Amino acid sequence: MNVNRRSVLKLAGAGTVAAGVTTVASATGAAAAVRGGVTAGPVPAAAPATKPGVSAAADKAAARAAALVAKMTLDEKIALLHGGTGGTGYAGAVPANTRLDIPALYLGDGPGGVGNGSTGVTQWPDCKTLAATWDPGTAREYGAAYGAEQAGKGHNIALAPCINILRVPYWGRSFETFTEDPYLNAELAAHVVEGIQTHPVIATVKHFAANNQETLRGSIDVVVSQRALHEIYYPGFRAAVQRGGAGAVMTSYNKVNGAWSHENRTAVQDTLRDAWGFDGLVMSDWGGTHSTVLTARAGSDMEMPGSTYLGGKLKDAVTAGTVSAATVDTMAVHVLTAMYRTGLFDHRLPDPATVLSTVVSSDAHLRLARSISVRGSVLLKNERVLPFARPASLAVIGDAADAGALTHGGGSGAVTANGAVVTPLAGIRARAGDIPVTYTKGLAGAADAARAADVAVVVAGDYTGEGTDRTTLALPDGQDELIAAVTAANPRTVVVLNTSGSVLMPWLDGAAAVIANWYGGQEQGNALAAMLFGDEEPGGRLPETFPASEQQGPAKTTVQYPGDGTHVYYDEGLAVGYRWYRSSGEKPLFPFGHGLSYTTFRLSGLSLERSGDGYRASVGVRNTGRRTGSEVVQLYLTAPAAAGEPAGQLKAFEKVTLKPGESRTVRLALPREAFAVWQTTETGWTVLPGTYTVAVGRSSADLPLETKVRIG
Ligand code: BGC
Repeated sequence: MNVNRRSVLKLAGAGTVAAGVTTVASATGAAAAVRGGVTAGPVPAAAPATKPGVSAAADKAAARAAALVAKMTLDEKIALLHGGTGGTGYAGAVPANTRLDIPALYLGDGPGGVGNGSTGVTQWPDCKTLAATWDPGTAREYGAAYGAEQAGKGHNIALAPCINILRVPYWGRSFETFTEDPYLNAELAAHVVEGIQTHPVIATVKHFAANNQETLRGSIDVVVSQRALHEIYYPGFRAAVQRGGAGAVMTSYNKVNGAWSHENRTAVQDTLRDAWGFDGLVMSDWGGTHSTVLTARAGSDMEMPGSTYLGGKLKDAVTAGTVSAATVDTMAVHVLTAMYRTGLFDHRLPDPATVLSTVVSSDAHLRLARSISVRGSVLLKNERVLPFARPASLAVIGDAADAGALTHGGGSGAVTANGAVVTPLAGIRARAGDIPVTYTKGLAGAADAARAADVAVVVAGDYTGEGTDRTTLALPDGQDELIAAVTAANPRTVVVLNTSGSVLMPWLDGAAAVIANWYGGQEQGNALAAMLFGDEEPGGRLPETFPASEQQGPAKTTVQYPGDGTHVYYDEGLAVGYRWYRSSGEKPLFPFGHGLSYTTFRLSGLSLERSGDGYRASVGVRNTGRRTGSEVVQLYLTAPAAAGEPAGQLKAFEKVTLKPGESRTVRLALPREAFAVWQTTETGWTVLPGTYTVAVGRSSADLPLETKVRIG
C-alpha cells in the first residue's frame, strides 16, 4: 500500500486541499525559505513544535513520582500498569498499594455525566450541547460540576472528555464529542479538563487519535497524513494536555497509519511526549492493548482492563531484556506523576463501594444542566413564532416529547438520571400554566391536533450510541412524515430536534421554527419550555455543519468512509467539516457556526493591530433588537495560497451578551500560532510569508467584515 501516493492522486482529482507528497514537497521548499532567513516580518517564522517549559508544580510531581518508584519492586511497578474490570459505577480499577500507601485508582465514564450505572448523579446535556454553547467558561463550569460528582462517587480518574473530531456526521458517538473544528475543540477541551481537575480527579482526554467512526473501530487502520493529524485531529489533545494540564490520555481502538494507537510510537512518544511534553498517564481503550514490547516502547503506560500484555508478559520481557527496567520505571513514574499532580495522594476520595447510594447531584447542578441546555440549543430557523407570545393553545406532538424522550445517548457515555427526567411534554405543561396543551404521540391524529391548536410543537429524535454508526441522516420511524403532516396542518409549527447531530429536514420550508436541542439531559423539558416561552433564548451555534443531503460532505466513497474493511482513507486531508464545504462549493442546509438569537445584532468596524507576537482584531457588536441576547463573534483566517490551506478557518471567537441598544468592542487574539501551518515533521509549525485574510461574522458562511494583513 502506498498511502501517500494514493492520497495525492485522490486529492488532485477532488481538487481539494493538499495533504500528501506533492504539496508537502513544494511546501517544504517554501518553509525552508522562510526558515532560511525571511524572518523580518511582523510575525516571525514559527519554530517547529518544541517541548514546553515544565512548571514547578510539574517538576515536583514528577520528582515525587520518581522518588516513590525508586522504593518499588518490579511487581509493584507492574501492578500500576494494568487494571481490573470495573464495579458498580466505574469502568476499571487499579488496586491500592498498601505497603507504600498508594491509593487505588477508580476509572469512571463518561463525558456527559458519571456513568457505568452510577446512581444519584446528574444526567447532563450531552457534549454536543456543551460544544454548541461556544463558551469555554461554560465548559469549565461544567467540568468542575461534573468533576465534583465523579469525586463524590469516589472516582479519581474520569474517562472524559471525548474530543475526537466529527469527521462524518454518521459517527455513533457524535453526542459524546464536540465538533468538526480543531480550534473550537481545543478551547473546549482545555477548559473542561481544567474544570474536572479542580478536584482530585484526573481527566482522561480520549481517544488518541483519529477515532472518528464506530464501524470496525476495533480493527480499522486510518490512513491519514501527518499534516491532517497535526492540524485537524491533534490540536484538541495538545490543548488538553498543554493548556488544560490533563493527567491522562486514552489511546483509541483503531490503528493509525499501520500501528495500533497504543503502540503507535510516532503518536505517543514522538508527538504527545517529546513534542508536547506530556509526562502523565497513557492508558489504552478497553481491550485496546495488543502487545507488550511495542506498547512499552511506544511511550504508553497502562493496559485497561486486564493484564494480558502489561502484567506477567511485561515482567517476562524485562527478564528477557526486550523491555528495559528503566522503561518500566518510566511507565510507573508517568502514572504516579499524574496522581501526584492532580492531588490524588493528598486528597483521598471515598471507596466507591461506600458511596454507592450517595446522591451527588444537587439543585445547583440541575440548574446548571438546564442552563447548559439553553446555552447550547441552536435556533436554526425562526419565522416570527418564537418566543411564544401567549398562545391560545398548544399541541405537543411526537413520541420523543414524552415516553420516547431522548435525553442522552448509549454506550459508555450513557448516564442514569437522578430522579425523573423532565420530558419536553412535562416541561411545556409545567410552564404553560392555564394555556391548554394537548399531546399526540404518532401520525394518527397529529394533523387534527395541530390544526386545532394555535401553535404546534413537534419533538423528533434519533437515538445513537457507542458501537454503531448511523446509516442515514434521515430521522427514523416515520418522523419526517409526521413533521410534514403537522406543518401542513399548522403553519405555526416549531420543530424540536433531539438528535446527536445533523439530520436531514425535507420539511424545513413548512416549519416556522427549528431548534437543535441535541440530547438535553434530565432537565431537557424545563430548558425547552424556558426557550419556547421566551424566559431564555437558545444561545447555541452549530459546532458542526448540517448537510443538505446524504451526498454532501467529504468521504463520499466507501474507502473514505467507512473504509474497505481494513483501511479507511482520509483523502480529504484538511478539508473536514466546513472546510470541505467551502472548498467544494457545496451549500449545506445550515453552516458551521450558524445560530439565531431572539434579538438581532450588527457587527462593524473590524480593525487589526499588533499584539505580542501576533495581532489583535477588534470589532464592534451592537444589539439592534428589543431584548437581551447573545452573539458569537467568529473570526476566520485565510492563509496565502502557497500554504495549501483550506480557506476560512476558525481562529478566534467570543460570545457576548448585550442588552437592547448596547454595544461592545470585542477583541479577538490572533497570536503567532494562529498563522502557522504544519507542513512536515522536519519543519513542524511554520508561518509562511504572504497576505492573510481575516474575516469576521456570525458563522462560517456569513462573514460580512474582512481585512487583510501582510506577513513576512
Ligand atoms: C470506550 C471508552 C470508555 C471505555 C470504558 C470503551 O468502550 O470506547 O470511551 O471510556 O469503554 O467504559
